[in-house]
Amino acid sequence: MSNIIIKNIQSLLQVNTDNSLVISGKKMDASPSLENAFVSIKNGVIDDFGSMENAPSTGFDSEIDATGKIVLPAWCDSHTHLVYAGDRSQEFEDRINGLSYEEIANRGGGILNSAKRMATASEEELYADAFQRLNEIMELGTGAVEIKSGYGLTVETEIKMLRVIAKLKQNHPITIKSTFLGAHAFPAKFKDNPDGYIDLVVNEMIPAIAKEGLAEYIDIFCEKGYFTVEHTHRVLAAGVAHGLIPKTHVNQFNSIGGIEASVKYDALSVDHLEVMDDQDYAFLENGKTIPTLLPSCSYFLSIPYGPAKEIMAKDIPVALATDFNPGSTPSGNMNFVVSTACIKMKMTPQEAITASTINGAYAMGLSNQLGSISKGKKANLIVTNKMNSKAFIPYYFGVNPVNKVILNGNLVVDHSK
Ligand code: NIG
Ligand code: FE
Repeated sequence: MSNIIIKNIQSLLQVNTDNSLVISGKKMDASPSLENAFVSIKNGVIDDFGSMENAPSTGFDSEIDATGKIVLPAWCDSHTHLVYAGDRSQEFEDRINGLSYEEIANRGGGILNSAKRMATASEEELYADAFQRLNEIMELGTGAVEIKSGYGLTVETEIKMLRVIAKLKQNHPITIKSTFLGAHAFPAKFKDNPDGYIDLVVNEMIPAIAKEGLAEYIDIFCEKGYFTVEHTHRVLAAGVAHGLIPKTHVNQFNSIGGIEASVKYDALSVDHLEVMDDQDYAFLENGKTIPTLLPSCSYFLSIPYGPAKEIMAKDIPVALATDFNPGSTPSGNMNFVVSTACIKMKMTPQEAITASTINGAYAMGLSNQLGSISKGKKANLIVTNKMNSKAFIPYYFGVNPVNKVILNGNLVVDHSK
């Protein structure tokens, strides 16, 4: 671990002096920044930052010149399914030819297609593929990520997925949080016995996973054709009883009461929210639960975009994440998420950056260690390419704006070489 100073930073974003753990909707556009700044890194953490005239000149092993560049916290991607086997490119072509995501799922494709491939995949190949995906998103500036199970759908295979995530946590420089999503789809065997599958999730999967300490969070896909609000109550109650915190899939295609149920169990986040009823907003006001929007999923499936503006206008915070998975969002690119949030959801560049850093960190329970430029936080930083303003990140879309990535105080990506 070396001591690094980044100098001559054109603009240092997400400077946090009041230790906020989450930024509420109306303040998301006003995150303070410093011009002509420095950041110093010692022992893996942010040691100091400020304007260049106060920059220390000695005590560093290496120096990064960020003239004309922007420095910001590495992206915090709080919702992915990036451990998976095979791909679903055939379903992609089927959708182009007219089938919907729901129609594909109804004929045994979708999540069950991924589950079939997961069943026969070895832990070694799952690990190698996911490690490669983590490298890919690290090149794009991601420094922390949440990964879900949910393609196992049996006790054994859900545990296999979670063990892969545990091994990734140990070996990859990206900070990782893991979520148990046994209630992702009904396996064919339980098609006519949905309550039987919930029994399995509640009585066998959750206790086994909690005992091995394999997950921090509990998730469920609360949606017509998948899991009901009643199932959601059962699964979240069991998860909470075993020390898991809810983070749920709700309101992707229909508003059926998933937000209300999740908030009741003090969910850390409710994710998707492409379809919202008026009364859904009330459950999110003054709460601890952060709505998390997934614009690249809307883009890929051609479904509505989450109502970021409406949520922020009620002073509720918003987080943005990729939803990286083989079916609805085969992309872990947070830069694309930031662009799409600006272009399609009308978030300002600053709001989208806040949603993808400190608020994303909050949605993973990590905002005390990550997501802003604060002394003592983990040194997880992006140094961009040369650009005139932060608006270039979403504006100059489709290319990687990231020049360097520092994680845990180490330079792990350097595109200038
Ligand atoms: O977040 N909606 C449920 N789960 C995933 C999709 C998973 C899949 O299609 O494999 C999502 O979009
Ligand atoms: Fe998802």
